[in-house]
Amino acid sequence: MCSKEAKLPPHVLIFPLPAQGHMNSMLNLAQLLCLSDFHVTFIVSEFNHSRLLKHSGTGSTFARYPGFQFQTIPDGLPDDHPRAGYKLMDIIASLINKVAPIFNKMLIEKDLFASANRRPVTCIVADGVLSFAADFTEERGIPLIYFRTVSACAFWTYFCISQVTEANEMPLQENGLEEFAKTIPGMEGLLRRRDIPRFCAADDASDPILWDVITLTRQTVRAKAFILNTFDDLEQPVLSNILKHMPRLYTIGPGNAHFKSRLGENKADASTPSASLWAEDLNCIDWLNAQKPKSVIYVSFGSITTVTREQLLEFWHGLVNSEQRFLWVMRPDSILGKDGDRIPAELEKGTKENGYMVEWAPQEEVLNHSAVGGFLTHGGWNSILESIVAGVPMICWSYFADQMVNSRFVSEVWKIGLDIKDRCDRVVIENAVRELMEVRKDQFLDRADHFAKKAKMTSSEGGSSSRNLNDLIEFIESFCV
Ligand code: UDX
Repeated sequence: MCSKEAKLPPHVLIFPLPAQGHMNSMLNLAQLLCLSDFHVTFIVSEFNHSRLLKHSGTGSTFARYPGFQFQTIPDGLPDDHPRAGYKLMDIIASLINKVAPIFNKMLIEKDLFASANRRPVTCIVADGVLSFAADFTEERGIPLIYFRTVSACAFWTYFCISQVTEANEMPLQENGLEEFAKTIPGMEGLLRRRDIPRFCAADDASDPILWDVITLTRQTVRAKAFILNTFDDLEQPVLSNILKHMPRLYTIGPGNAHFKSRLGENKADASTPSASLWAEDLNCIDWLNAQKPKSVIYVSFGSITTVTREQLLEFWHGLVNSEQRFLWVMRPDSILGKDGDRIPAELEKGTKENGYMVEWAPQEEVLNHSAVGGFLTHGGWNSILESIVAGVPMICWSYFADQMVNSRFVSEVWKIGLDIKDRCDRVVIENAVRELMEVRKDQFLDRADHFAKKAKMTSSEGGSSSRNLNDLIEFIESFCV
């Protein structure tokens, strides 16, 4: 290494799955590293990069970090591919089959993204679903750190799921959904078969997507270290189990709270850069400003979930019948078979009286607004953490994957909300909304406040996530000597 290069900061290449939830949590890490003066190259698909520029002006937003750069790469899918719902799995397949060789070539041609003022990448932090990263980093001798964007409890369930299949507990349906799954250490008597992650509504051991997820989760141990966007006070018992398999584990979450805390310490511009793939409708903040404290239930199912028209109408009836005020994010690409159908008059009337709808919201700002008292969510991990940080209780309706486990923990372990699992008929929704916003409101708000305080403490100086991030930074620096 030449003397000039020796003086340059570490250079981390971050490669998330090109989907909003994955990008958000890995962008938080990118910014945390930039605040420590690291250089970061952040891989983004060409498709998403053009959306970021269109809706978030992200090119200039990240210009505040001189060491940050985006690097675009194709995602291998045609532009008209939906990239939502169960079709998300096509992105993973395309990355493995088409994008991995392009990325490999790019690394060689671009000399590991080195430039006059940037050393070749010191290490790669890859999304844990990108199984190909383990092969090529081993071949090239580049240190690899895996980052899984799911909760520790969901990760651990994936890690142990082959034991569920070996114990013949699948198909789940046939074996009784209310029975406890007995083979996941630490979760006996907690996780029912109903809570085991499912894909494409399949619940049998031959589901190929399930096996892909099991395989890629198992090979996480090949990395030099492992990062989870969670915090010790929230998931300690599960983390102890994971540590037995991956001793170099860094829990640095909640990423959003941690980033804001360090931003404050650095006295930089206090606003969080937006990296939305859809245009945020800020009018919903004006609407919230006109509502009473803690009177609104915020409804959003993240960036991937799709619902059938039938499900949509059930949610809608339930919300209107609950007579609570609601702010609902209805992504334009989230409703299947919506064209040409009329909205029943009572829903239009109920929405005019009590509701407000947008296509995409500034979610963190919404959750932290004083008018918001509850969150009806699909249980995506970013949404849950953002809600915990804001002290907002939740109703979780799970669409698929990790969400089935997250929702169980929200209701049974942390007791900060209700788990309606995969049921969304109008009576279930109405009752759950009334229970969260009226009947047990104070009880849930107290619990949510308890975890909000813990989330802030862990990310402040001296807190466990803050210490873990310092250790991670030191570990990455050790690759430079
Ligand atoms: C998915 C998984 O569900 C999740 O568990 C995994 O960790 C990452 O990938 P997604 O389904 O999109 O992500 O949900 P979630 O993790 O909740 O992420 C959605 C993100 O979009 C959140 O950060 C949320 O703040 C943001 N969002 C959502 C907005 O900014 N505006 C909106 O209107 C809706």
